[in-house]
Amino acid sequence: MNRIPVILDGDPGHDDAIAWMLAKASPMLDIRAVTSVCGNQTIEKTTYNAMRVCTLLSVGCPIAMGKPTPLMAPPMNAPSVHGQSGLDGPKLPEPAMLLCELRSVELMAKVLRESEQPVTIIATGPQTNVAALLLAHPELKPKIGRISFMGGGIAHGNWTPAAEFNILVDPEAADVVMKSGVPITMSGLDVTEQALIYPADFERVRAVGNEVARVVADWLEFFYEFHRKLGYPGAPLHDPVAVVSLIRPDLLQSKDLCVEIETKGEYCRGATVGHDRAPANARVNLGIDRDGFADLLVEAVRAYGEARV
Ligand code: RIB
Ligand code: CA
Repeated sequence: MNRIPVILDGDPGHDDAIAWMLAKASPMLDIRAVTSVCGNQTIEKTTYNAMRVCTLLSVGCPIAMGKPTPLMAPPMNAPSVHGQSGLDGPKLPEPAMLLCELRSVELMAKVLRESEQPVTIIATGPQTNVAALLLAHPELKPKIGRISFMGGGIAHGNWTPAAEFNILVDPEAADVVMKSGVPITMSGLDVTEQALIYPADFERVRAVGNEVARVVADWLEFFYEFHRKLGYPGAPLHDPVAVVSLIRPDLLQSKDLCVEIETKGEYCRGATVGHDRAPANARVNLGIDRDGFADLLVEAVRAYGEARV
């Protein structure tokens, strides 16, 4: 099978970690690099978490630390959702690898230069690193096959009524990405809040019985706890939808739209405004087969049998 080379850029983060579990388990994807970004927690914490998650999942590619702050805005974190560590809950292994000597943008550029085929970037945090890559190396745009990101929401936000967290942390970066001309798939709250994993699903995952299954079930329970208090019937698994877009697009309903980022505005900064009054710049996921998604998660953890994937 001709696998898709991918770079995982995120701010683990419980749902980032589950997205990376899904990506590593898929025979369709070839993970070439992992880069951390400042978002759910500080860059130091998301980098440490990225290394621990990659150790747990036996992801053997280079891991590089991302930029410590958004392009222009001050850092914004989400300890209320992911805890002080950014990945509270189950104990994780200490990193089995050293951090790459290159920083995120240079590692991404190296992977793009060296890849024979275009590389897909799966961005599940603020888009700071991706935008910095596009600004520093515009000549490499043809080597980016697609950017599949979790972020935004056409109909609503979550951190403010208008803005979703990943976009709100770095609206300037999202603006650079949306205007880049690179093929884009957007998985915003419109679809990710339908990607609900219920407590009954946690137990299906746990019953698979290997180490990764136990950790993923614990991550799901932790992530659900914050959302249960907000009235959610399950854990809205935001970031994994950016991976589902690539490996099981049949589970999704989408529409091509022109998406523009509000970078100003006292009340609407960070909004993703989607419309058809200009040429489309993104495929926007708007619906998901929830049961099929839950089954996909259970099958993915099964791939981590006692003999590590
Ligand atoms: O709004 C949800 C997004 O913010 C997810 O990527 C989650 O990990 C946080 O980064
Ligand atoms: Ca994230």
